[in-house]
Amino acid sequence: MSIVKAYGTHSPKADLLQMTIERRAILPKDVKVKITYSGICHSDIHTARNDWKGSKYPVVPGHEIVGEVVEVGAEVTRFKVGDTVGVGVLVDSCKDCRSCNKDLEQFCLNGATFTYNSHDPHLGTQTYGGYSETIVVDEHFVLQVPDNLNPAGVAPLLCAGITTYSPLAHWKAEPGKKVGVIGLGGLGHMGIKFSHAMGAETIMITRSPGKGEDAKALGADGVLISTDHEAVKAHMGTFDILLNTIPVAHEMDPYLALLAVDGIMIMVGAIEPLKPFHGGSIIGGRKTIAGSMIGGLKETQEMLDFCGQHNIVSDIELIQMQEVNQAYERVIKGDVKYRFVIDMDSLRNT
Ligand SMILES: NC(=O)c1ccc[n+]([C@@H]2O[C@H](COP(=O)([O-])OP(=O)(O)OC[C@H]3O[C@@H](n4cnc5c(N)ncnc54)[C@H](OP(=O)(O)O)[C@@H]3O)[C@@H](O)[C@H]2O)c1
Ligand SMILES: [Zn+2]
Ligand SMILES: [Zn+2]
Repeated sequence: MSIVKAYGTHSPKADLLQMTIERRAILPKDVKVKITYSGICHSDIHTARNDWKGSKYPVVPGHEIVGEVVEVGAEVTRFKVGDTVGVGVLVDSCKDCRSCNKDLEQFCLNGATFTYNSHDPHLGTQTYGGYSETIVVDEHFVLQVPDNLNPAGVAPLLCAGITTYSPLAHWKAEPGKKVGVIGLGGLGHMGIKFSHAMGAETIMITRSPGKGEDAKALGADGVLISTDHEAVKAHMGTFDILLNTIPVAHEMDPYLALLAVDGIMIMVGAIEPLKPFHGGSIIGGRKTIAGSMIGGLKETQEMLDFCGQHNIVSDIELIQMQEVNQAYERVIKGDVKYRFVIDMDSLRNT
């Protein structure tokens, strides 16, 4: 076991501050990773502030982790010391249920172990995430990072990347289809990049007119300002896929009206009770509302390899660990271009 520096919070209303946590001694199949970059996902904020209830304190967030392998267990076959690797939202699962056997560890029927705020079966505490110096993870849950990509920009791929890649691949964003990505934040900007790279006509749907030019630079073919009623009317009934990243409950009917016949709206953002929507909004047009959660390990590696081939990374603002509380406030205001990533040397060197 080792004691390492971390950043976390002791209560929903308190700022994050420096603390220490335990990491287990490596087991035969474990990889020890020196964390170099950690992305800030909106889920980190939801958990730190107990928005979803059930947070156990202290909460040490962070599930967009890139680092360097510094130690491997005797039975590790896929990694060696010095490799650049990624760790995302999952650090364990039963590996033998119907979901795990289909490479869908995120839906493990015996309960996946999430990177933070899950029960840690090894230490008996909760798991602690990537705002820390190191992490020890079973190699099945460690990803290879393509050499050609900037590691800081890779960190957000481990959650924002796979969360948008997986549903777009599953429901087939492709040439001839019109895809709308709702909300231009961490997930949304990756959604645009992937939809564009998959060949679909890609429209950014945002409340923020100021983000329009950026959306085009990220790969959007067009921008729809959701408060511009005339523009919204012109797009009604035309989208095959809507990828909805809005982080809170909201009126769904106006977005459902944008779907074409047989269109689908995939919810990835609002993990809370949704507002009621009118049955007619999906009955008229044989429309579907679906959900999606990150992706399994196989698909996460596929996404990273896709990013390597297409030269895709996240657009980031690199910050110091000590700036995390201000960064959280900016994420909540929708003021980030388009993902904060923490340079973890700033924690190591304090
Ligand atoms: N399903 C999964 O597996 C999964 C994985 C990761 C994260 N999440 C969840 O996904 C959500 C988005 O995460 P993120 O990191 O992308 O967040 P984010 O960076 O804060 O982006 C969300 C964007 O949604 C828009 N938005 C915010 N509040 C809104 C409102 N009240 N009405 C309409 N639009 C609003 C804003 O874009 P505009 O300014 O362009 O409108 C904002 O930039 C979070 O709730 C997170 O917990 C889910
Ligand atoms: Zn996340
Ligand atoms: Zn399982």
